[in-house]
Amino acid sequence: MRKEFLPFSPPLIGEDEIREVVDTLRSDWITTGPKTRKFEEDFARFVHAPGALALNSCTAGLHTALVTAGVGPGDEVITTTLTFAATANVIEQTGARPVLVDVEPDTLNIDPTRVEAALSEKTKAVMPVHFAGHPADMDAILDLAGSRGLLVVEDAAHALPARYRGRVVGSGDNPASFSFYATKNLTTGEGGMLTGDPGFLEKARVVSLHGMSRDAWKRYDQAGGWFYEVVLPGFKYNMTDIQASLGLHQLAKLESYQKRRREIVALYGEAFRDEEALEIPVERENVDHAWYLYVLRLVPEALTIHRDRFIEELKALNIGTSVHFIPLHVHPYYREKYRYGKEDFPVAWKNFERMVSLPLNLRMTDGDAGDVVEAVRDVIRRYRR
Ligand SMILES: Cc1ncc(COP(=O)(O)O)c(C=O)c1O
Repeated sequence: MRKEFLPFSPPLIGEDEIREVVDTLRSDWITTGPKTRKFEEDFARFVHAPGALALNSCTAGLHTALVTAGVGPGDEVITTTLTFAATANVIEQTGARPVLVDVEPDTLNIDPTRVEAALSEKTKAVMPVHFAGHPADMDAILDLAGSRGLLVVEDAAHALPARYRGRVVGSGDNPASFSFYATKNLTTGEGGMLTGDPGFLEKARVVSLHGMSRDAWKRYDQAGGWFYEVVLPGFKYNMTDIQASLGLHQLAKLESYQKRRREIVALYGEAFRDEEALEIPVERENVDHAWYLYVLRLVPEALTIHRDRFIEELKALNIGTSVHFIPLHVHPYYREKYRYGKEDFPVAWKNFERMVSLPLNLRMTDGDAGDVVEAVRDVIRRYRR
């Protein structure tokens, strides 16, 4: 057994990032400024996006996109139940109703046939989530939305970098929101990026910063001026140059980071592929998975314990894990407001009950990954039915 606890997802911050942050702190400009602008440009280039807007979280990006598109009271937005709270919370915050639907059994991504069944006169937008970094079935979703004039806002929190049928997630004209939270493939501590059509992002920039017209962020700079006008009641969602300092260097290293993530995924795949008590995550043909999460599924018929105990046993062996996600429809707020029952979304519910996210991060050595494999095998050996 390992001597020290293996944390689920510690960040990897290099000396380059630290030097850049210090450089920013020593400069005259620490909030949104030239480094944030450069990060937007570099990011847009990286994901082949028509435009990019740096914000202080993915949540901020999703909220800004919906508000910019005019989603509000009386509207419905269709999304998956198997996601983080932020996805649906932002819909609630606009006054619209989140209409939850079930997921596909292999990828655990929003099921396009369920989206179609949930469409109504009130539907204004669809918000697919690229669960764990595996792209959702975007062609089916874009077709459905396109024929009805609906907005598609991608929750791309997990999907940096991912590719669907040759297209990089974030390269489309529709808004896509990425997360740079501490555990993500690229981190700025907290942060996010909204990509999409430049005209839309121009409006989104105003929505995201107090509704102030012009380049108000320059108003204390020699190049700027004191005058601005408030054209709508906007938010305070801007990214700072301190955050962008981290992002610039993380982005430059992302390709090599992803190579390492895939090595760990391959190591887990080798170890678990033939184990009948386990189901390993899928990567469909024609996609590149971002491998933000490695979501293992237990096969209940093969084990005498279930998921919660499995996690406790791994913890006792010093392996940190997590669960992504408790479906939204069982959280008190959504359950009570919309009177959902657990089995209303059977695929999400049944899979939730048997999922465990294993450590998958850049601080892990092959030895650490080997320890995870040994611990999982040990628990299975002891509790095989
Ligand atoms: C699917 C999903 N959407 C949105 C978010 C929110 O991201 P952020 O913390 O950057 O706001 C998360 C956070 O982990 C997430 O997992």
